[in-house]
Amino acid sequence: MTLKSSNTVWHRATVTRERRAELNQHESVLLWFTGLSGSGKSTLAHALEERLYQMRYHTFVLDGDNVRHGLCGDLGFSEEDRVENIRRVGELGKLFVEAGVIVLTAFISPFEADRQRARELLGSDFVEIYCDCPVNVCEERDVKGLYRRARAGEIKHFTGISSPYEPPKNADLYINTAGKEVSECVDELLAYLEKRGVYPKK
Ligand code: ADX
Repeated sequence: MTLKSSNTVWHRATVTRERRAELNQHESVLLWFTGLSGSGKSTLAHALEERLYQMRYHTFVLDGDNVRHGLCGDLGFSEEDRVENIRRVGELGKLFVEAGVIVLTAFISPFEADRQRARELLGSDFVEIYCDCPVNVCEERDVKGLYRRARAGEIKHFTGISSPYEPPKNADLYINTAGKEVSECVDELLAYLEKRGVYPKK
């Protein structure tokens, strides 16, 4: 992106990320869930958030369907719009991380290059979690009835049907959501986060 806002000067905050972490008693990080529609991204992100909240961590879920009602309401599902969607989410996630929050993002984010850009933006704060679920299972679940409509030709560029999904090559964590209970997946995520030292024991 080329910056159009010229003549701006970065203002340094006195309340830094480090001071926020001290106040919160935990570090911040961005947990980036990627996968097909219906693969369990939002379900897992919210279930994990619930557990973290109960452990008194400061969290926030950025969810594709919700963010597309506001901040990204001007974007559709063309390749160009998805690229911009993910760019904004990366930048937004970075601000949340600066604010001291454990951020969980749930976006299909189908393109490897866009996820890679978010990883570059956030550096070691970026944790990519691939919700791995075969498209036929997502289609069977069809929680929102969108696969049926996509098959009927009512929704164009639908991921997994008429628009591609590029599975992560180097995800930090693979979760096979097809044959597992949500609680099992959440335990896996918590174990991973603890091992990685994303949050300290309180
Ligand atoms: S992304 O590709 O740009 O990352 P995002 O996660 O924000 O997508 O939005 C995906 C959600 O939008 C899906 O879960 C689904 O509810 C809805 N949706 C509507 N149209 C489409 C489409 N053509 N492809 C995929 N998801 C769609």
